[in-house]
Amino acid sequence: MSFLQVQNIHHTYFTKASATTALSNISLTVEKGEFVSLLGPSGCGKTTMLSIISSLLEPTEGTVLLEGQPVSSSKNKIGYMLQQDYLFPWKTIEENILLGLKLSKQLNQKTKTHALDLLKQMGLNNGVEKQLPKQLSGGMRQRVALVRTLATEPKLLMLDEPFSALDYQTKLKLEDLLSDTIKAFGKTAILVTHDIGEAIAMSDRIFLLTSRPGTIYKTFEIPDSLRRLSPFDARNHEAYPAVFQMIWKELESFEQQNE
Ligand SMILES: Nc1ncnc2c1ncn2[C@@H]1O[C@H](COP(=O)(O)OP(=O)(O)O)[C@@H](O)[C@H]1O
Ligand SMILES: [Mg+2]
Repeated sequence: MSFLQVQNIHHTYFTKASATTALSNISLTVEKGEFVSLLGPSGCGKTTMLSIISSLLEPTEGTVLLEGQPVSSSKNKIGYMLQQDYLFPWKTIEENILLGLKLSKQLNQKTKTHALDLLKQMGLNNGVEKQLPKQLSGGMRQRVALVRTLATEPKLLMLDEPFSALDYQTKLKLEDLLSDTIKAFGKTAILVTHDIGEAIAMSDRIFLLTSRPGTIYKTFEIPDSLRRLSPFDARNHEAYPAVFQMIWKELESFEQQNE
């Protein structure tokens, strides 16, 4: 049995005036410890998919099982990190990273120490925990957001375009940090991105989605030679351009069909 099973998901948003089908017939599985990406053009339903997997949104049709159980009963097992850091501006970094623990009633001395240790592991020390978010750079704030997500020890991490608001250099550094951290903790992760390079550099497998309504157009296995490397080194490996070209061509082919 796979760690995560997504079965025949279909989702339509209904408003008074209209019905928008965001996802159609999505089925996929993710194994424990795997890092997968959902890659697709903006508006194709990627965020909708993550919201459904984390049971923030109930799909019109289909089921999601985490370790064989409906996700609605596994809320505390899933950590969610977004493009914007959503740190509370009036709370210190320490208060921000402990928030998830507090809300899920897991805050105690042990979990608090663990969260503060994680902050140090992310290179945020020297009193950063007493500062306010506005005193930190964008890259630092995303590291804080990652600590807050990891602090509750989720079994599954959901990452919704977590680097897209950062400058390129910071993004590359954070890709490596995130990848190292996820490997070190043996977590399972789903990354949403519209960046082909990022998907290749970070993932074991990529699900390529079509434009709305999103369906899975193709699944790509990333070659071992790239998977073994850090994201930064993968981007510079000789096997990388061919994989990039292949995915690029697939994206072009279905975008042309829509023109
Ligand atoms: N709450 C909502 N109500 C109506 N339509 C929505 C809502 N959320 C998203 N959509 C529509 O569903 C489609 C998919 O959105 P989304 O999942 O955010 O895509 P992505 O994350 O891939 O950019 C878009 O056309 C978007 O406008
Ligand atoms: Mg989105």
